[in-house]
Amino acid sequence: MDEESRALDQKMKRNAAATDNNTIRGVDNTSIGTVYKKLTNDDFQLLEHFISNLKKFEYIPLEVIVKHFKKRFTEKEIVARVKKLAKMKLIERHPITEAYKLRFLGLDCAALHRLVTKDVIKAIGDEIGTGKESKLYIGISEDDSIVVVKFYRIWKSFRNISKMRSYGNDVGGVTWLVKSIVSGRREREALTILNKHSVDGVPKLYGGALHAVVIEYIPGRDLYAVTQFDNPEEILQQIIDIIKEAYIKANIVHGDLSEYNVVIDLEDMKSYIIDWPQYVSTAEPKAYEVLRRDVENVLKFFRRKFRVDKDLNEVIKYIVEGKSTSS
Ligand SMILES: Nc1ncnc2c1ncn2[C@@H]1O[C@H](COP(=O)(O)OP(=O)(O)OP(=O)(O)O)[C@@H](O)[C@H]1O
Ligand SMILES: [Mg+2]
Repeated sequence: MDEESRALDQKMKRNAAATDNNTIRGVDNTSIGTVYKKLTNDDFQLLEHFISNLKKFEYIPLEVIVKHFKKRFTEKEIVARVKKLAKMKLIERHPITEAYKLRFLGLDCAALHRLVTKDVIKAIGDEIGTGKESKLYIGISEDDSIVVVKFYRIWKSFRNISKMRSYGNDVGGVTWLVKSIVSGRREREALTILNKHSVDGVPKLYGGALHAVVIEYIPGRDLYAVTQFDNPEEILQQIIDIIKEAYIKANIVHGDLSEYNVVIDLEDMKSYIIDWPQYVSTAEPKAYEVLRRDVENVLKFFRRKFRVDKDLNEVIKYIVEGKSTSS
């Protein structure tokens, strides 16, 4: 086993336990690759029909689906296809009426099909983890690199009910699919800008579709889970330098930075900042406040865990200085 495979193997084992705890059993727990292989081009066309109607219907009446496909399929064929997708839990029937809505698993399969069709990836493997707002799989890109395929799964992360109500007060509703698609697009936007400006310490973006983001796989460990560094000051300095480069070169602030969104490649002792959908442009009035909060989270963590003490104001000054000349 070469070094990269060994790191990958360890990562998968580490994440297996977390996956067991976090996956919603009996809901979307089938391996996506297994489900995907059972689908035909006609199935994908049907899924795409659900996607183009996401904002129009919560549940699409069966008669609307039949009418849409009537030039290509008989009613009997289309009903059979709808039943197949419902049985596979890609779509879900309304409890009373003959109408169907898309589920996350259906959205995942549609995104995967687009990624394969667009030649972004050629294979998807095991789940490597479940974040609060996503499911992540290992994959192989067209150029044979190991990548992470991240599917957003935003549906319960709102802390208060009133905020939840504004999204339709329905944890299974299609508004959550739309929110997830928006997050996927936002993260791709941020990574595109960061990569374009060659910001070091950010994963390379390979592409994406709908709520899916395909990024470089970083063999390493989440910062929060690292118990010891030979030189914690150096790691903190690396993280500060990524924040600075993002700010100065790409004019971007992360917006959700903490020890949970930093991965450390322990072989090379190199830090990466991941998970960018909440990025803020430095042109936005709130950018400075967001930057302070991001930096404060990181400094607090290093102070608490590694007894490295840095002054917030001085670090902020270091990050923003040079801004007017470099951008
Ligand atoms: N490019 C990557 N390479 C290796 N591991 C990754 C990569 N991206 C994400 N991960 C792993 O998956 C986890 C979740 O990823 P990410 O933070 O992007 O998703 P999330 O759903 O926002 O998670 P959370 O809400 O828990 O922060 C990370 O903490 C990390 O362990
Ligand atoms: Mg995260």
